[in-house]
Amino acid sequence: MQAYRASILHLLDDPTKTEEGAVAFHKDGLLLVEDGRVVGCGEYAELSPWLGQAELHDLTGHLITPGFIDTHIHFPQVDIIAAHGKQLLDWLEQHTFPAEAAFADPKHAADTAAFFLDELLRNGTTTALVFGSVHKVSVDALFAEAFDRDMRLIAGKSLMDRNAPEGLTDTVESSRADMEQLIADWHGKGRLGYAVTPRFAISCSDAQLAMAGELLARHPDVWMQTHLSENVHEIKETARLFPKAKDYLDVYDRFGLLRQRSVFAHCVHLKGEAFQRLAAKGGAVAFCPTSNLFLGSGLFPLEEACSHGVKVGMGTDVGAGTSFSILHTLGEAYKVGQLRGDALDPFHALYLATLGGARALDLDGMIGNLEPGKEADFVVLDLAATPLLARRLAETKSLENKLFALTVLGDDRVVARTYLAGVERYRRDSAQAPT
Ligand code: GUN
Ligand code: ZN
Repeated sequence: MQAYRASILHLLDDPTKTEEGAVAFHKDGLLLVEDGRVVGCGEYAELSPWLGQAELHDLTGHLITPGFIDTHIHFPQVDIIAAHGKQLLDWLEQHTFPAEAAFADPKHAADTAAFFLDELLRNGTTTALVFGSVHKVSVDALFAEAFDRDMRLIAGKSLMDRNAPEGLTDTVESSRADMEQLIADWHGKGRLGYAVTPRFAISCSDAQLAMAGELLARHPDVWMQTHLSENVHEIKETARLFPKAKDYLDVYDRFGLLRQRSVFAHCVHLKGEAFQRLAAKGGAVAFCPTSNLFLGSGLFPLEEACSHGVKVGMGTDVGAGTSFSILHTLGEAYKVGQLRGDALDPFHALYLATLGGARALDLDGMIGNLEPGKEADFVVLDLAATPLLARRLAETKSLENKLFALTVLGDDRVVARTYLAGVERYRRDSAQAPT
């Protein structure tokens, strides 16, 4: 057994829905881990009698939280992060498609997959729902690297049988065969899961969306991920391509793609009744503030989505998103809220990044907080990572305000260590933490 002594903060429930008991904080806490799972989490004084032969890691002064969950990110877009000047459809044409074309090469895919996963870990992200390129080999490469790290990761190859350049399209038959093989090879292996991944409605024919729906019906525990209602021009083009659909969400719904384990990125322009439909069928939304600001897509109505009972998780959406850091992404989510007149509560923010994300992915039985029985995916945060953060937090008394400052000022520099299933997979070189 391994034991970690530090301050511990995690969410037991959605703090906006529960009056009391959603936030668990142990100033002098102890986390007990055995065989990759949490076996105890609470006050050091209460749990220390159970230490026995456990190896004790004294991380006093640091903060342990659950690992962060990124519910939307593109692995083949690492190299076009921060590409200047365009909104969604032009950005896809000019920057994204050329970069993704390179992922037909297994060596490039494998090299990038290793970098990508290490970057997630460096930022404290322990689970992600990931878009691959259209090429099966890109997803094989990503799964192989994630399996080596024993990471809980869900991914899929992009479906795109139209409106994409040559070399970046598939067909109904080729994509069906690729997905069946990827599911057989990877879904449920270690901590991996497969997601059927229609890129967005514009890039998929009716026949391909119908095939995706049939495949999901045959594999009910497989995930579905796509983009929805991100950009005004995209919405208009979708309406033109699918004249029979009631609205953008209905395009996916009519093909059986709106269900439990369906995650829709963005939903910036969705309104009340559509959120209600999305929630009623068990779908979830990935809120990607850095991307929505960077591409000028708009301001996601978080409060409205939540008020309709929609499950929401945080997404970085790299490479339209501008940071791998979920902490930084929470700071940007706050700013989006400010522009809408809604100030995001710091505990709600941490919920969205952890248990909320786990619920969005239907994985809350396994990850999302540090309750006994959960997989021991956690991070050790250095609250004095920068001189400014150290100074600001020393001046801040309440936990709520400390957490808020951490999301506004913090990023990868704050992450001292990252653990996957109880195994340390990242340690910051200059970590101040004693061993
Ligand atoms: N819509 C379709 N493809 C993409 C993509 O790669 N990124 C974003 N942000 N939106 C999309
Ligand atoms: Zn995206």
